Amino acid sequence: MASSSGNEDGNTESVSWRLIGQASELSKKQCCMMYSPLGHDFDVCLFHVKGEFFAMDARCSHSGGPLCDGDIEDANGVLQVFCPWHDYDFNLRTGKSGTGLQQEVYEVKIQDNCVYVKHASPLCLKPFPAVKKS
Ligand code: FES
Repeated sequence: MASSSGNEDGNTESVSWRLIGQASELSKKQCCMMYSPLGHDFDVCLFHVKGEFFAMDARCSHSGGPLCDGDIEDANGVLQVFCPWHDYDFNLRTGKSGTGLQQEVYEVKIQDNCVYVKHASPLCLKPFPAVKKS
């Protein structure tokens, strides 16, 4: 009997590899937004820089700026995204900022030309429909 602790809806998902899409498609853009059904605070950016993928929380840990719209710079081999709102830097690999802030980052793997991100909730390239709260 197969054992599975995952379920499609609800907020009690465990961290697991989430299939995002084809690497050949996702690598065409420098950043793709991946939406979480848990809400905007859980959305994730998938960056593709210099042939490598990086996943990071999409809302800046300073004041929620959209990191997907940030500029990417290579400072002596250290890849950083700069938040478009107040220009804070975040290391794409570690999530650390020179300001002392820490942005959450997630593992990414490529398997059979598909990109997977390790995350607690499903991630989708299209926004999830709004969930009614009653
Ligand atoms: S919101 Fe990102 S640096 Fe202020």
